Amino acid sequence: MNPIEIESLSKTYRGRRGKVVVALKDLNLSVAAGEVFGFLGPNGAGKSTTIKTLVGQIRPTNGSASLFGQPTGAAGARIQVGYLPENPTFYDFLTAQEYLTMIGRIFGMSTESIRFESERVLELMTLTEAARRPIRGYSKGMVQRLGIAQALLHNPDLLIFDEPMSGLDPVGRALVKQIILELKQQGKTIFFSTHVIADVEEVCDRVGIIAAGKMQTVLNVADVLKSGIEGYSVKVSGCSSDLFPDYKISKQEDGWWSTTVPRAQYRGFMEQLFANDGQIEFIEPQRRSLEALFLDIIDQVS
Ligand SMILES: Nc1ncnc2c1ncn2[C@@H]1O[C@H](COP(=O)(O)OP(=O)(O)O)[C@@H](O)[C@H]1O
Ligand SMILES: [Mg+2]
Repeated sequence: MNPIEIESLSKTYRGRRGKVVVALKDLNLSVAAGEVFGFLGPNGAGKSTTIKTLVGQIRPTNGSASLFGQPTGAAGARIQVGYLPENPTFYDFLTAQEYLTMIGRIFGMSTESIRFESERVLELMTLTEAARRPIRGYSKGMVQRLGIAQALLHNPDLLIFDEPMSGLDPVGRALVKQIILELKQQGKTIFFSTHVIADVEEVCDRVGIIAAGKMQTVLNVADVLKSGIEGYSVKVSGCSSDLFPDYKISKQEDGWWSTTVPRAQYRGFMEQLFANDGQIEFIEPQRRSLEALFLDIIDQVS
């Protein structure tokens, strides 16, 4: 039973004065157990609408979705998910400790397990020191980290995070990425939305690109990064660049030079280099990034 199954999901909002907004059109997706899935799209693409449907906050206009085989909105589906909403807000007169206790009770956890698990998630999100202060005094990043802490409290097998890195400083972003990878190692399934491409490249197994309410494509991230290699930037020593008249030498100094070798010429270049006692000082793949791909797709849609 897949953690997430979405079938022909559509959502139409009726705004003010009956204005119709088609937020999602016929979206299909399966996410398998143990996957880290990135849901990438520009603002207004339909990411939060999809996520709110998954956690049962809103009802679809058409189509359906299920979590571990149970229809979204059902208590049996909800209890298996840790959910971080976009822009989480809390009763700010509570302390983090009190808030987590409340969440633990809602999930039916025992007093003992609430104590143990809240200590664990506070520590994980570096909130231990602030745990007994009212949330009112927290920075934006601390509120976001508390949002992740409450999602992890009942140790669910599926995590759904709506823009988990937003509002975090570089240290906080690195922490969240590390936690996502740790959760994956524990066999959890993570589905998160973002508009930041680097976040996807670093932690996701697959990425779904959504724009204008439609899933444009679903890709294996490793494949994109690999197939995207267009050539290699190399720094060479030990032989003269004169032996390579077909290559544009980008930099040359005493004893070394550098150039870019197209993927198709890689083998021939290396053979000639080694035949002339040349050495590689540095080599780096030059790839067509996920960013270029993403921008192409967004361009076609708009
Ligand atoms: N409650 C609502 N009423 C009317 N329109 C909405 C509502 N929520 C979202 N929308 C619209 O639906 C579209 C998708 O929004 P959303 O799912 O929040 O996108 P994302 O999370 O990708 O930025 C946008 O055009 C947004 O303005
Ligand atoms: Mg959103």
